[in-house]
Amino acid sequence: MSSIAMEVETASSERKHKRLASWVEEVARMCKPDRVHWCDGSPEEYQAMLRLMILSGTAIPLDERKRPNSVLVRSNPADVARVEDRTFICARTKDEAGPTNNWEDPVKMTEKLKGLYTGSMTGRTMYVIPYSMGPIGSPIAKVGIEITDSPYVVANMHIMARVGTRVLEVLGSDGEFVRGLHSVGAPLGPNDQDSPWPNNAVDKYICHFPDTREIWSYGSGYGGNALLGKKCHALRIASVQARDEGWMAEHMLILKLTNPAGVVKYMTGAFPSACGKTNLAMLIPTIPGWKVETVGDDIAWMKFGADGRLYAINPEYGFFGVAPGTSMQSNANAILTATKNSIFTNCAMTPDGDVWWEGLTEKKPAQLMDWLRRPWTPESGRKAAHPNSRFTTPAKQCPVIAPEWEDPKGVPIDAILFGGRRGGVVPLVTESFTWQHGTFLGATASSETTAAATGKVGQLRRDPMAMLPFCGYNMGDYFGHYLKIGTRPGAKLPKIYYVNWFRTDENGKFLWPGYGENSRVLKWIFERCDGKVHATETPIGRLPAPADLDTKGLNLPDANVAKLLSVDVDGWLEEVPRIREHFAKFGSHLPKGMQDEVDGLEQRLKAAKR
Ligand code: GTP
Ligand code: SPV
Ligand code: MN
Repeated sequence: MSSIAMEVETASSERKHKRLASWVEEVARMCKPDRVHWCDGSPEEYQAMLRLMILSGTAIPLDERKRPNSVLVRSNPADVARVEDRTFICARTKDEAGPTNNWEDPVKMTEKLKGLYTGSMTGRTMYVIPYSMGPIGSPIAKVGIEITDSPYVVANMHIMARVGTRVLEVLGSDGEFVRGLHSVGAPLGPNDQDSPWPNNAVDKYICHFPDTREIWSYGSGYGGNALLGKKCHALRIASVQARDEGWMAEHMLILKLTNPAGVVKYMTGAFPSACGKTNLAMLIPTIPGWKVETVGDDIAWMKFGADGRLYAINPEYGFFGVAPGTSMQSNANAILTATKNSIFTNCAMTPDGDVWWEGLTEKKPAQLMDWLRRPWTPESGRKAAHPNSRFTTPAKQCPVIAPEWEDPKGVPIDAILFGGRRGGVVPLVTESFTWQHGTFLGATASSETTAAATGKVGQLRRDPMAMLPFCGYNMGDYFGHYLKIGTRPGAKLPKIYYVNWFRTDENGKFLWPGYGENSRVLKWIFERCDGKVHATETPIGRLPAPADLDTKGLNLPDANVAKLLSVDVDGWLEEVPRIREHFAKFGSHLPKGMQDEVDGLEQRLKAAKR
């Protein structure tokens, strides 16, 4: 690439910020793209990305009458989800990254990566995407710059974050920003034919440098590996900033719940990937007169307001939602959001130019093209859509988006929910005794693994606060940060709950219908916040008695409800040594408060046996 071509495309507004301009030049010299394009965030630019993807075979336009302005993209089968084993926290020391993160020395990792990035963009365009996580100019929002060689990433970032020139204006000549470098790691020689989904089959590295607020992602073009504003910035880097600055960056949905009298409460919920955040954030209550509206479906940044309450903003601008299981029955609002202006990845395609995935319709279509571009019929005996197939869709298209979802000061949180996918032992809902006990419930959260990350599905693992793959520092210190938040003078803290929609019977069938019926649990939580409904003390926390839960019209056998709300004392006594084992990993980083909580739990359980 000639340096002249690069300079021609670097307009004056982008040169104002000297550090930014010189970083972009430095990256261009290393990656050697054919062109550099500064993203302005315009609709024309978005359309240009779609056209590029269609021309290169990455995307297929969907039928304009069925799914206006939308495309289907199929990735390489080796690049379909987050790669947790290739994700690194390159803090100064291994101890700072902690026992739950992969660590590599920052100097060594930088050397290795520089080798990989050298010439990695040859034959491609290097895009510079200025983005804001949070409403542009909000005091809670943070700016990042993602450099990428993937038009797919540019198009997705247009939906998932606020991008373009207006972000550069906020940045001015010396604003702070997170540096994100992304390359699919597939340089093109002059005679090379590009593949529809370029990626690097050998090397994938998703690296974070918390001390310099940098992200270096190489080799994957998919989801959280490549859309750097999301998990890499808004969770891994932001969690470090939050620790340093006294706020919280969490893997949480944010919802607004209104009761029949018009009283509003806001709740956040941390469930691991593919465990129900998007669904809960936009559920349609089955109990009359109650209303749920969406503020966010994946990430919450929470800061204390002057009144001592925690205020949450959704740093994102769109949803990157799990497709399978999403239907008009399970999540009508997600279906209605993604009717237009959306990108579908690894879904199946119908003969009439629309998308399909398992669970979208009760009856499977007679014919499809599956996500691997092969003809498919119901007799094929395999899934038509990848289990981690996704839709990228603008949040503002959601029919129940809360009017205040872009309020720069955020919404005051009344309750925090933790949860996970557990077939056994864990009840439908548990209220914590205190903030410290709630932190303990979050810290011991466990869940079966899902298709959102590569690796085995259905393996039970601890996923504290649903942050196992996303905490940018030592998880033991992260528990400590929660406790510190809880002791802030004058703090008016949310109440903390633990929920489990996924308890099963002897035949593996869900005991609880879930989805819209989860509103019954939200109602109990809402009324607990006002002290208006009863709860029973148990060794593990406070639970509703069956009569405390609104089950009108639910048609669930009494035995199911009783089981969902029972405390399996023996099952919990078996959990205690597992919790101790989990905590032992953190050594001296485990706060004393967490040790006290496990001791307290064991004592209460033993007392209940007597
Ligand atoms: P990420 O985007 O990966 O963070 O996932 P998420 O936490 O937003 O999960 P999502 O709401 O997309 O749900 C994932 C899967 O769980 C989907 O297949 C849903 O249909 C299913 N699911 C969601 N809520 C419930 C529920 O209440 N009960 C049951 N049984 N399944 C649910
Ligand atoms: C998750 O895995 O929690 C997601 C999808 O939200 S991704 O953006 O790929 O991380
Ligand atoms: Mn998520």
